[in-house]
Amino acid sequence: MLEANGVTVRFGGVAALTDVSVAVAPGEIVGLIGPNGAGKSTLVNVMSGFQRPASGQVLLNGKNVTRDKAHERAIRGISRTFQAARLFANLSVAQNIAVPAIAHGHPPAESEQLAKDLLAWLGMARLADHKGGALPYAEERKVAIARSLAAQPSYLLLDEPAAGMSETDANYLAEKIGEIPALFGCSVLLIEHNINMVMNVCHRVAVLNFGRVLALGTPREILENKAVVSAYLGESD
Ligand SMILES: Nc1ncnc2c1ncn2[C@@H]1O[C@H](COP(=O)(O)OP(=O)(O)O)[C@@H](O)[C@H]1O
Ligand SMILES: [Mg+2]
Repeated sequence: MLEANGVTVRFGGVAALTDVSVAVAPGEIVGLIGPNGAGKSTLVNVMSGFQRPASGQVLLNGKNVTRDKAHERAIRGISRTFQAARLFANLSVAQNIAVPAIAHGHPPAESEQLAKDLLAWLGMARLADHKGGALPYAEERKVAIARSLAAQPSYLLLDEPAAGMSETDANYLAEKIGEIPALFGCSVLLIEHNINMVMNVCHRVAVLNFGRVLALGTPREILENKAVVSAYLGESD
């Protein structure tokens, strides 16, 4: 279990998060939605060790990891993507994915094979030897996810992985994200604005608004929650 417990983060006078508690259980895909500026990325930063909270804790399997640095949490199985992460331009796509596996102590040959397996899973085997700097946008986003999975995490935190993708690419990605728990034994926390994607793929959804948890429930409960509809989803449909 990966838990944020009563997390508060302030940036100067701005309360980015106030007493936020969200947990991801083994095998689960939890959606994290809410308007721009609601604190979604800040929560992922806190859970992955890139932001120290003013108060509250992050627990990994019951152990307090709040003061552990990002690389220490990565070793313990917490991996994340960034909203605008770039690949190493001069390494091949397969090498880009193999780097975290090697960094986590896997032999290079085994790491390259893992990279190729991840590319095949994403339908991108033909791009293995292309340069990381020369990929179309959607492919670059998918490689970033493969790279995070190459560290063989138990918890993967995805920050808007489908942002800027076509609907076709986003749907394909949603299908792949849905496969992650069973295929890789890895739970997912998914920040995403594409509501269809969140509702189709997530077991539970947390809604943040002005740095607070507005609602937490199954996709159906969230779609029917009046406070969520008026704060975020809109009344139109
Ligand atoms: N490093 C930072 N310094 C100052 N303010 C920040 C920083 N990061 C985020 N914020 C502010 O915290 C709030 C939450 O931001 P963020 O977590 O990025 O929201 P979201 O990902 O939901 O769009 C916003 O008001 C944002 O401007
Ligand atoms: Mg964000």
